Amino acid sequence: MQRLSLFTKCLIIFVVLWLFLRFFIGSVWSVPLPASVISMYLGLILLAILVHVSVEDDRFREFLRPVKETLADDDRRTRRTVLFVLIPLVMLGLSFSRLSTKADPPAVLRTAHPAPPTELEYRDKVIGLTQEVENPFRHLEKDDTEAFKAHVDNGRRVYYQNCFYCHGDDLDGEGHFAHGFNPPPANFQDPGIIPNYQESFFFWRISKGGPGLPPAATPWDSAMPVWEDHLTEEEIWDVILFLSEYTGYRPRTFGEAAH
Ligand code: HEC
Repeated sequence: MQRLSLFTKCLIIFVVLWLFLRFFIGSVWSVPLPASVISMYLGLILLAILVHVSVEDDRFREFLRPVKETLADDDRRTRRTVLFVLIPLVMLGLSFSRLSTKADPPAVLRTAHPAPPTELEYRDKVIGLTQEVENPFRHLEKDDTEAFKAHVDNGRRVYYQNCFYCHGDDLDGEGHFAHGFNPPPANFQDPGIIPNYQESFFFWRISKGGPGLPPAATPWDSAMPVWEDHLTEEEIWDVILFLSEYTGYRPRTFGEAAH
């Protein structure tokens, strides 16, 4: 058997050490080394090999011999051609696999505004949502403006005591805590929200919060709290009036098409 050249030996040592760092350490001690640490070690190994082969002139010449032969000798033409084709191909493959961004598809499609249930249990009461459930105080807007204003003011109080730190001072979903949540708190200034849903939809969302979302809306980790434990029915209807008065958007009414 032909003796291995010094160059091939060095190459083998390098590859074996790389495999050791890359796969062996990780699987034996179950701590995979970070890529940056691996490349640091490989740099040191390369340096050690170069120092080893270059301390003596003879050894260095012996090390470079196969390289020179491959580059210059006539009988090594095939090897030369193969290398000159392979090296750029490998580089191309490596840079392509690094650069091609891997698009992560969303794990599951989710519905941001699922259909509300047909009825909900509010504390001990059952409130139907399919019938024409209206905000019980909405009619005051026409019938008794003073009383209506009092409900809106109560809604404002409820909002700034409970909701603004997520949904924002300006109801734009930019509250102090907003950036910590995914999905983010609803932005009521967005024309796609209030005008598209009935007040009963908001009653449901506010009273049951994130935990009350149906499976269609999973996998949400909605931070929206369950307000039925803290607010009265009247306070929830009032805060809904406030949302619409403040933004100027009117919730949909039954029978009316989405805007
Ligand atoms: C801890 C943060 C937090 C607080 C406090 C909070 N919300 Fe939310 N709210 C959210 C998040 C997050 C969402 C979006 C995810 C979802 O729909 O459940 C949301 C969604 C909503 C929705 C649904 C909007 C839609 O487009 O479907 C309504 C209505 C709502 N909040 C009203 C309120 C009201 C009223 C209060 C105060 C009584 C309040 N929220 C307090 C975090 C909060």
